[in-house]
Amino acid sequence: ATGGSLSIIVLGASGDLAKKKTFPALFNLYQQGFLNPDEVHIFGYARSNLSDQELRDKIRGYLVHVKNASEKAEALSSKFLQLIKYVSGPYDSEDGFKRLDKAISEQEISKKSSEGSSRRLFYLALPPSVYPPVCKMIKTCCTNKSDVGGWTRIVVEKPFGKDLESAEQLSSQIGGLFDESQIYRIDHYLGKELVQNMLVLRFANRLFLPLWNRDNIANVQIVFREDFGIEGRGGYFDEYGIIRDIIQNHLLQVLCLVAMEKPISLKPEHIRDEKVKVLQSVIPIKDEEVVLGQYEGYRDDPTVPNDSNTPTFATTILRIDNERWEGVPFILKAGKAMSSKKADIRIQFKDVPGDIFKCQKQGRNEFVIRLQPSEAMYMKLTVKQPGLEMQTVQSELDLSYKQRYQDVSIPEAYERLILDTIKGDQQHFVRRDELKAAWEIFTPLLHRIEKGEVKSIPYKAGSRGPTEADQLLEKAGYLQTHGY
Ligand code: BG6
Repeated sequence: ATGGSLSIIVLGASGDLAKKKTFPALFNLYQQGFLNPDEVHIFGYARSNLSDQELRDKIRGYLVHVKNASEKAEALSSKFLQLIKYVSGPYDSEDGFKRLDKAISEQEISKKSSEGSSRRLFYLALPPSVYPPVCKMIKTCCTNKSDVGGWTRIVVEKPFGKDLESAEQLSSQIGGLFDESQIYRIDHYLGKELVQNMLVLRFANRLFLPLWNRDNIANVQIVFREDFGIEGRGGYFDEYGIIRDIIQNHLLQVLCLVAMEKPISLKPEHIRDEKVKVLQSVIPIKDEEVVLGQYEGYRDDPTVPNDSNTPTFATTILRIDNERWEGVPFILKAGKAMSSKKADIRIQFKDVPGDIFKCQKQGRNEFVIRLQPSEAMYMKLTVKQPGLEMQTVQSELDLSYKQRYQDVSIPEAYERLILDTIKGDQQHFVRRDELKAAWEIFTPLLHRIEKGEVKSIPYKAGSRGPTEADQLLEKAGYLQTHGY
């Protein structure tokens, strides 16, 4: 059955996010048959004066990555590009948005599917400063004239504000125009395969149920590293810093999934209810449980002020004050210009009481979920060293996705999330109260950093970050293990 016409409108169509993420994700969905060409039209909207063809040419190179891509893929990308139309106009005047509405309506009418409902998905690949005027214009000029089964949905990208106050202001401005059920706040970490696996792992495996608590778990670490710096994003980055860029959203969302209680059901609202409770149970961060760093050379970027204190690295310990987690440090660590590129979750278990093998120094049980690259889960175990002697050694039970699921290609986060917005599934999107609770955790610290009360320690680009961070981990009880 046809769902009527589906218009996907990418605002900020010639920007980086749209070119690198949004359009390629749409193309992948199209390639896999999720976007029916009889129903779908795609629009790009931005300020620059471009023809349809000029926009298509800008996007083309991002769709098919492999050099010498197959002719089939090339042909498919050309067909996909033909679905895209461009409308130019400012972000704050009715004139441009009225033209956009006209273009959408014409397409809706031209397709035979227009007998069904009109569905309009507005993807704001824009800086948050223009969210309020753009939402207002969409509401006044482009909302579909209500028909049964039709809808208007808005997708917004982080950063949603800079602190609690600005985020709340943004939320109420957008909330005054659209219902929460129409607003999809993307956190692309929620679209990653192993992040989505978290609930299954925790609640579908008897093995973990009795272990997942303060009695057995010594600490939890959630780590993000990149082996490159800010690469020309200095203007944005220096205003936000690593806590707002990665920790307050991506890592905190992962923390919620690690720490939350079992939801009543898999309904998005039930899941998000539990996530909010975790965030609300986090107690204020202490300055002595924070290490900030800034890589040497960061200030050489012409858009970064010479005296910038903006952290490009941070380790913070969060403490969840509830029955399950009291006393367990949740270590969140993120850094740019580090020695490697990696994101993982490490659940470290407590020592075995009565250690008859005297093997404790070799390491503890640790369950590692590697989000990227090379998705994997592995459990570090102590086993007998094979051979005649009774020696112990640390080894791994290893589920590496590349080996185990050779024929499955893992979808891009954006692909999955855009598909969810079309289906109307808000599970993997951040709800307004979640956002508020997330800002409540970090705002006091962020303000202290801005006042220079917490300083960033210089570290060498390509290193592990400031050594003070390792010392903090040690103090928190994390036992460094070797290998793997
Ligand atoms: C973005 C940040 O949200 O996530 C970037 O703004 C960062 O600074 C990126 O590079 C990392 O995403 P991923 O999916 O490559 O881990």
